[in-house]
Amino acid sequence: MGAVLLDGKSLSREIEDSLKIKVNELKKDGIEPHLAVILVGDDSASHVYVRNKENACKRTGIKSTKMILPVATSEEEVLQIIDEMNKNNDIHGILVQSPTPKHINELKITERIYPTKDVDGFHPWNLGKLVQGDMRGLIPCTPAGIMKLLNNAKINLVGKKVTVIGRSRIVGMPLSLMLAQKGIDATVTITHSRSKDIEKICMASDVIIAALGIPGFVKKEWIKDSSVIVDVGISRVIDTSTDRHKLVGDIEPSAIEKASYMTPVPGGVGPMTIAMLLTNTVKAAINN
Ligand code: GUN
Repeated sequence: MGAVLLDGKSLSREIEDSLKIKVNELKKDGIEPHLAVILVGDDSASHVYVRNKENACKRTGIKSTKMILPVATSEEEVLQIIDEMNKNNDIHGILVQSPTPKHINELKITERIYPTKDVDGFHPWNLGKLVQGDMRGLIPCTPAGIMKLLNNAKINLVGKKVTVIGRSRIVGMPLSLMLAQKGIDATVTITHSRSKDIEKICMASDVIIAALGIPGFVKKEWIKDSSVIVDVGISRVIDTSTDRHKLVGDIEPSAIEKASYMTPVPGGVGPMTIAMLLTNTVKAAINN
């Protein structure tokens, strides 16, 4: 029996459709939601992600400003641009695409963005709210998208054993907090590169969420029958049968034969991240 696919693309389009209505209403009140995206350097994947964000803004009527900066841009220059954007009342959301070049400290960048414009939800103020179980701040987009996807499929997480693989500040850590919060009530295990017996932990899990960026890391044999599988990974590899590039996740595709629900790659978590970014931008525009 194959898994039901958790279709992030179609759910994200539904979210975009309702945002479009809200954006139109805001425009009638003289507010045009506006997202500013800063991209430093020439990481090709980042350029694709930023273009996808820009296109999603267009679809929903959100104004977007893209600032592409050369790799040699100094940290101070980026901080100054953020300061100007912070002061600009026409800009509601600011995002600096990660990864930045090594000489730019991402944590410094994150702390410089006003918490009310931090549509990534990475500022300590927003993360602090999350720790307190207060969901009124701006919530990190990929974790929020995953929660929406699970909720939309009516997957009950109460008391379930959920294993999160990866402890990044973008996905693994905030997602683990959200899963364990009151009202969701999952029993969360956070695993990472130094975890022992990760396959055994996976085998005992009702839900596995992989966010470590290693293609095919989680094997089909690690998956318990009827578990729920969420694949956050998206890596570009050469398909040896066609000699062409393809996008693959952190979980072996054959896991679909054992799972009850599984996210596709692409078309699962990725579009949901963008839908949540747009949601945060509209929220920031309303709150400003
Ligand atoms: N790079 C990969 N995912 C993200 C994200 O959600 N936000 C930012 N700023 N950079 C990323």
